[in-house]
Amino acid sequence: MTKPKLRSQEWFNNPNNQEMTALYLERYLNYGLTREELQSGKPIIGIAQTGSDLSPCNRHHIELSKRVRDGVIAAGGTVIEIPVHPIQETGKRPTASLDRNLAYLSLVETLYGYPIDGVVLNIGCDKTTPALLMAAATVNIPAIALSVGPMLNGWFRGKRTGSGTIVWKAREMQAAGEIDDDGFMDLVASSTPSVGYCNTMGTASTMNSLAEALGMQLPGSAAIPAPYRERGQISYQTGKRIIEMVNTDMRPSDIMTRKAFENAVVVNSAIGGSTNAPIHLNAIARHLGVPLDNDDWQALGYKVPLLVNLQPAGEYLGEDYHRAGGVPAVIGELLEAGLLPHPDAITVNGKTMQENCSGVRSDNTDVIKPASNPMLKDAGFINLKGNLFDSAIMKTSVISKEFRERYLSNADHPNAFEGRAIVFDGPEDYHKRIDDESLGIDENCVLIMRGAGPIGYPGAAEVVNMRAPSYLLKRGITALPCIGDGRQSGTSGSPSILNASPEAAAGGGLALVQTDDRIRIDLEACTADMLVDEATLEARRSALPERPFTPDSQSPWQEIFRERVGPLSEGMVLRGAPEYQDIARSKG
Ligand code: FES
Ligand code: MG
Repeated sequence: MTKPKLRSQEWFNNPNNQEMTALYLERYLNYGLTREELQSGKPIIGIAQTGSDLSPCNRHHIELSKRVRDGVIAAGGTVIEIPVHPIQETGKRPTASLDRNLAYLSLVETLYGYPIDGVVLNIGCDKTTPALLMAAATVNIPAIALSVGPMLNGWFRGKRTGSGTIVWKAREMQAAGEIDDDGFMDLVASSTPSVGYCNTMGTASTMNSLAEALGMQLPGSAAIPAPYRERGQISYQTGKRIIEMVNTDMRPSDIMTRKAFENAVVVNSAIGGSTNAPIHLNAIARHLGVPLDNDDWQALGYKVPLLVNLQPAGEYLGEDYHRAGGVPAVIGELLEAGLLPHPDAITVNGKTMQENCSGVRSDNTDVIKPASNPMLKDAGFINLKGNLFDSAIMKTSVISKEFRERYLSNADHPNAFEGRAIVFDGPEDYHKRIDDESLGIDENCVLIMRGAGPIGYPGAAEVVNMRAPSYLLKRGITALPCIGDGRQSGTSGSPSILNASPEAAAGGGLALVQTDDRIRIDLEACTADMLVDEATLEARRSALPERPFTPDSQSPWQEIFRERVGPLSEGMVLRGAPEYQDIARSKG
């Protein structure tokens, strides 16, 4: 087989334009690269570096990239490290998800505009994974993802403490007087004992597992904890493998097909994946021109059992997940049960899911269960629709017994309930008024959060799971039904109705709802409606301001983002961007 022509040679070795070649070349020689490394037909491999001091979750990639570099050189390539716009989930105001599309844009521009033949995508913290996969989808040069890996398990007084999830617990312990302010800090910090990303099954572990389920990482790569020796070893193998992918011209569009996405949706249910996963996977799919929407998530994912016993849905953490076999064991169990829709989907190592994972079984059936004895049945999402929104996601498997008895025990309609709306315009309004007794919030209310979507709170805030007012908490009522056009943290296990699209700021139905309206939710018919007549709704619609629920932007990017962003149900992508798919080939 003849090797494909390297695009880097158009810069570094173009006999038709010697002058430009010399100009391109000389500046890459000035730090010590040689003409031999740049001109002898070695693939130039970019390492898309998301690790930095500003991004602690991904910072260990700085170390791992040394092993990637060793692998690339061993296989005959040259490395150019590429800085990627930083995204730290816990550090960025107003929200890290605002920066997913910014990191995407800048990496597209970099990969397209510079002499890169193939790229290693350093994934990890929540938004870094979708940002890099979206960019790889658009540019469509050979690409392989490398997870930085989760932190080691956290421990406090002999019990596992999971990052993110422990914060909910710490609040309760402090309220009960079991810990003071310092104890609160110590408890939360105990969940972050090493380099790496969140050790719970939050959005990071979800998206890294799904990057493997999509076929974009070497088998077994997603779950290896960041400090383990295997993490360095798989980094080396990843570096070697990208050279073979360049030599055989294996591109993201060859791997991330509709089949791959269908597999990933099923794996998401089996791992107990985050409600952020539909947003990010739908976005990656759109940048490949692959159809994928929230109806697909319900149709393909709802009936899949939960196999992975990790916090917040279960009890274990990242090290346990890896030791039990990680993603290959989950896929092996799904294959064994005939639940993986496309065993023939191809992966970055050139083999199929079947070839990689068939016969791989859980090494600890307490952590990764067999499909015959799952944690839960029907662990996927349902997609609700009605006059409140066109699409919103709900994870029905996390509805508590208490909640089910209170709301879903009507003999005539065992899966439907009605309640009085209490409407909050954004998180600040909610924090200000939730404990206000004059609102008369009781167990027959539905809490609604609006102005928290991609436009209203640029990037969409993780605020939809709202706690009950403290006077209800004291009566033992901990969970009220919640609906909102924002998101929910992947480390929270609440059964909220999330990601409602279109959002209030885009004129969706949530813009029209008012406190005291009757809300009807039917989990059987998958509907959510305000019981308000059409004429009243029309009158409310015409009274809306021009840009409802949209405070002023605080930065230029917020303004640009708000002008071009689409709804959460369609992945919150920038209008027009998906049209640039495959630019490395189609635009030279
Ligand atoms: Fe970075 Fe959770 S905050 S992975
Ligand atoms: Mg988050």
